[in-house]
Amino acid sequence: MTTQQATSPQESPVTVVGLGPMGIALAEALQKKGHPITVWNRTASRADELVAKGATRAETVAEAVSASPVAIMCLKDYETMYDVFGPATEELRGRALVNLNSGTPKEAHAAVAWAGEHGIGYLDGAIMVPPYLIGNPESVFLFSGSEEIFTEHRATLSAMGDPRFLGADASLAVLYNTALLGQMYATMNGFLHATALVASAGVSAEAFADLSVNWFLPTVVTSTLVAQSPAMDKADYPGEYGTMEMNLNALEHITRTCQEQGVHAQQPELMLNIAKEAIARGYGDKNYFAVFEVFKKALQAS
Ligand SMILES: NC(=O)c1ccc[n+]([C@@H]2O[C@H](COP(=O)([O-])OP(=O)(O)OC[C@H]3O[C@@H](n4cnc5c(N)ncnc54)[C@H](OP(=O)(O)O)[C@@H]3O)[C@@H](O)[C@H]2O)c1
Repeated sequence: MTTQQATSPQESPVTVVGLGPMGIALAEALQKKGHPITVWNRTASRADELVAKGATRAETVAEAVSASPVAIMCLKDYETMYDVFGPATEELRGRALVNLNSGTPKEAHAAVAWAGEHGIGYLDGAIMVPPYLIGNPESVFLFSGSEEIFTEHRATLSAMGDPRFLGADASLAVLYNTALLGQMYATMNGFLHATALVASAGVSAEAFADLSVNWFLPTVVTSTLVAQSPAMDKADYPGEYGTMEMNLNALEHITRTCQEQGVHAQQPELMLNIAKEAIARGYGDKNYFAVFEVFKKALQAS
């Protein structure tokens, strides 16, 4: 769908709906790049500073979306989107709506259907950085769904960071987002747990961080993961340099060491149980990356 034509990037008006910490950061970044902006927020006073810097405060969402060819929403969740934009669907018809709320793939698909029913050009997205990094050209924003809307408004989206288009399936942005968040928590917990283990012998977090982050992550983890990813796509896990059985032994040592040192052991126990499941499923002589097959199991079953 072609939405109302934007003018040149610097002059293209943008509407921002939702002024929590993230929405304010998005509006400020757009304003700094010279976009005239119109804003709406349930709690109107949150727009005060933006208005003082030249933004227009709309009295209603309908008025806000009418002011620009593209409206960027940054609300709490998808449910809030229907409450907020429900009364403005007529004004949105033929315009572009960019959803930067966090949500699930199912919610993203439902939003595409809702937008389609109302003739709204819809693009789903996810923000991969905290508010203080918005506007930085390296800050990644993920988008999926309508490539036409993405391309048409790319210059505007670039004012907030580095926009990446993932594909026509609108759920990809939120799926990547949650996958990367899951990786972030697992990575942070890996570091936090390892640091707790050496702290049981009086080692400071600062002393351990140098070895664990500066050396271990780039030289051991990063290079291995990138090198192994093509084999993962082929489900090819040769065990000549180390088998799942060998890794089970290592995971048992970690668990026992935690118990001996009085350190929380549930995290290594969980990894131990996953490795045991991989062995039970016939991957005992394969390398550790065969755990990927265990993780994919629920996906294949659904
Ligand atoms: N903050 C981050 O670091 C970060 C990073 C990446 C992605 N995100 C995502 O960005 C989105 C916004 O996050 P945020 O940090 O700015 O704060 P948030 O607390 O998730 O969202 C606040 C916004 O939602 C509005 N809102 C909540 N319930 C509403 C309702 N029933 N009706 C109308 N408006 C309602 C709030 O309005 P009021 O001001 O009136 O309460 C405010 O504008 C979320 O989906 C979040 O997951 C945030």
